[in-house]
Amino acid sequence: MTENPIATAVAPGYVFDGPALELGGLMTDAETLTDVRIKIPIGMLNRHGLVAGATGTGKTKTLQLIAEQLSANGVPVFAADMKGDLSGLATPGTPSEKLSARTASVGQQWTPASFPVQYFALGANGSGVPVRVSVETFGATLLARVLELNDTQESSLGLVFHYAKSAGLRLVDLGDLRAVLTYLTSAEGKADLAGLGGLSSATVGVILRELIAFADQGADAFFGQPEFDAAEFLVVEPDGRGRISLLELPNVADKPVVFSTFLMWLLADLQRTLPEVGDLDKPKLVFFFDEAHLLFDGATKDFLDTIAQTVRLIRSKGVGVFFISQSPTDIHEDVLAQLGSRIQHQLRANTPNDAKALKQTVNTYPTSSYADLGQVIQTLGIGEAIVTVMNERGAPTPVAWTRLRAPESLMGATDPATIAAAVKGSPLFATYGVAVDPADSAADTLGARTAATRAAAQEAAEAEAEAKAAAKQAKADQAASKKAHHAEEPHSPADSAMDIATKLAKNKQVQREAIKAGRSLLKKLFK
Ligand SMILES: Nc1ncnc2c1ncn2[C@@H]1O[C@H](COP(=O)(O)OP(=O)(O)OP(=O)(O)O)[C@@H](O)[C@H]1O
Ligand SMILES: [Mg+2]
Repeated sequence: MTENPIATAVAPGYVFDGPALELGGLMTDAETLTDVRIKIPIGMLNRHGLVAGATGTGKTKTLQLIAEQLSANGVPVFAADMKGDLSGLATPGTPSEKLSARTASVGQQWTPASFPVQYFALGANGSGVPVRVSVETFGATLLARVLELNDTQESSLGLVFHYAKSAGLRLVDLGDLRAVLTYLTSAEGKADLAGLGGLSSATVGVILRELIAFADQGADAFFGQPEFDAAEFLVVEPDGRGRISLLELPNVADKPVVFSTFLMWLLADLQRTLPEVGDLDKPKLVFFFDEAHLLFDGATKDFLDTIAQTVRLIRSKGVGVFFISQSPTDIHEDVLAQLGSRIQHQLRANTPNDAKALKQTVNTYPTSSYADLGQVIQTLGIGEAIVTVMNERGAPTPVAWTRLRAPESLMGATDPATIAAAVKGSPLFATYGVAVDPADSAADTLGARTAATRAAAQEAAEAEAEAKAAAKQAKADQAASKKAHHAEEPHSPADSAMDIATKLAKNKQVQREAIKAGRSLLKKLFK
C-alpha cells in the first residue's frame, strides 16, 4: 500500500513508542490519501507548537481536535476562545455526509462526543467565571504593554511600582495605581517623586493620562481581587479526562493588546508558580494561544524577552504552548525557534508581502519529500496542513501533507443559555464570581493619609489662630488694665511690663508648639 516514494519516506518517521495524538492521514498529492497516520507524541507536547494558516483554512478545528484528544488522554487544556466557536467542545458534534466522507477517508471512527469544559471570562464582562489579577501581580512590564507605553515610560512605571512596594502601598486595582500616580504629582508627593531619581513628573503625568483612558475603556473589570489562580486550569475530572478551560473572549476582540497581554500573564503566572518537573510522560497542561500575532505586534524589547523566556522556562514545568496565527512570520524568531511541532494550513501569496512570508515559511522546514513545498502550502485544501512534529528523540519528523481528522464535538458555538447555566453552576463561580475591594489598598491608604493630612493642617491652623487671638486678647487686657491702674491707684510699671512679657512669651510658646505639632504630624503621615 505504501509504495509511493513519499509515503515510504515519511511513514517510518511517525512510528512512536508512547501514546500519540492522531492528526490525520498522509497525502502524497492533492488527490491521493494514504493509510499512513500522522501523529504527535503526547510526551513531546511540552516542546510547544504552532498552528498557522490563512483565515478559514481550519486552524480552530485543528485546535479543537487536538484539545479533544488531549482531554480524552487525561491532559488538561487551556484555550482562548476568540470567536466563541471553541465552546462547541462542550456539545456533541452533528453528523453530516461531508463529515463522514472526511472521517472515513482518514480512518476515523467518528462518534459524536462532548468534553468537560469550564468557561472563563476576562473580568466580569463575559460569559464565564471572571478572571481577575491585581495590578501589582500583573506587574509593570505587562501593564506598560497594555498602556502602550514607550521604553522610557515603561521603566518609569517600573520605578512607580517599586516605590509603591517600598512605601507599603498595595496596588490592587487601577484606582490604586491612579492614586499613587496622583499623589506623586501632587505637592505632598513632590519630595517622594524627587527621591525616586530619574522619574519626571511629566512622565508620571503621561502614564496617569494613559491609565485613565485605559480604565475608561472598561479595563477596570480585569484588575482586582479575588485574584485568579492559574493552577485552576490543571484539573483532571473524576472520569479521568482533562478539563478544557476556555477563556471566552468575544467581548474583548476590540482590545487585542489587552487580551493578548492577559494571556501572557496567565502563562507567566503558570511558569512562576508551577514546580519544576522536567520531561513528563504527558504534559500537565497544554495552553493554546490564539491570535498570537497580537502578542508580538509593536512589542518592546523587554516584553519580547519576557515572552521568549517564559516559553523557554515553562517547558520544564510540564506545560506545552501552541501558538495560533496566520503566518509563522507573525511569531518572533526567538519564540518560533522553540516551537517543536508545526501544523501549517494553507497560505496565500496574493501580495508581495504574502509571497515573502511564504518563502520564509518554506525555508523554516527541514528537507521535504514534496517537489515544491511552497506550491503545496498554497494549494492545501481546507482542513489540510503541512505537518512536522518533534519525535520522541527530539528530532523533527518528515514533512507530511496531512488531511486532518474531524472534531467529534460541535464545529460551532455551544448554545449561550447552556454556557450561562454551566457558569452559574460552577463551584469556581462561588470563589471568583464577585469582586472584592480590600480596605488596605493604595487608594484607601493614600485617601486616609490625605484626609488625616487635611485634618492635621486644619488643627495646626486653628491652634495658630487661637494663639494669635489669645495674644491679641492679652494685649487688649493689658492695655485695659493699664488704663484702670492709671485711673485708680498707681501700679508699679515694672510689674505690668513683666506681666505682659510673660503673657506674650506664653502665647508665642503655644503658637510654636501648635506649629511644631502640625509639622510633625504631616511628616509622620508622609513617611
Ligand atoms: N478538520 C476539519 N474537519 C472538518 N471540517 C473542517 C476541518 N477544518 C476545517 N473545516 C471546515 O472549515 C471551516 C473553517 O475552519 P476553521 O474555523 O477552523 O478556520 P480558521 O482557520 O480557524 O479560520 P479563522 O482564521 O477565520 O478563525 C470549518 O467551519 C469547517 O467547516
Ligand atoms: Mg479560527
